[in-house]
Amino acid sequence: MENVLEIDHPVVKRYLSVLRDKNTETAAFRRAMGNIGTILAYHALDHLPLKEYDVDTPIKTTTGFKPAAEVFVIPILRAGLSLVDGIISFMPDAKVGHIGVYRDEETHEPVNYYHNFPGGLEDAYTLVVDPMLATGGSGSHALKFLKENGANNIRFVTLICAPEGINRILEDHPDVPIITAAIDENLNDNAFIVPGLGDAGDRYFGTL
Ligand code: PRP
Repeated sequence: MENVLEIDHPVVKRYLSVLRDKNTETAAFRRAMGNIGTILAYHALDHLPLKEYDVDTPIKTTTGFKPAAEVFVIPILRAGLSLVDGIISFMPDAKVGHIGVYRDEETHEPVNYYHNFPGGLEDAYTLVVDPMLATGGSGSHALKFLKENGANNIRFVTLICAPEGINRILEDHPDVPIITAAIDENLNDNAFIVPGLGDAGDRYFGTL
């Protein structure tokens, strides 16, 4: 699918299985989220623009590279936080902003309750992070809000998506590529991803 990268990798498949398993304990769940976050970051940054500069090795001057834009990581609270450690262990210079969106359990509509962004969104290379893309309501809402605040170079990094969520983001934000570890079957009547992994935020934070 154009604009969607579904990572196909044996190690990712293994971590996903650990995360999906309802018997996985909190500590193992957190470890798997951390590790998979790093792999997602590797793929999400594969088009990061670079600029060249001179590097003096002990032997000779050669061409070095550094990002041409700052990387911003913006988790959608709360569950987005679960992938941040893994992402910034791969990209330690990244700045981290936050946006709080929850899905009203009855209407399933997104509600914005908090934001704090680093300055310079206009020029940044921004990764919006949420492990679950279900209806796409929260993600689409967060992307719209970020664009209203100046962001214009955004990638959406997610662990598991429903086709419904992907379609919603592609339709509302055709300029935003999606990087994911799995595209699942569909949504159930409670707008949970099937088979999914349950509620990522509750499992990561131990608030089940
Ligand atoms: C979950 C998930 C996404 C959203 C996905 O968050 O982390 O943010 O639902 O659903 P959508 O694509 O249909 O909008 P939740 O509302 O459970 O909040 P939490 O992150 O605080 O656990």
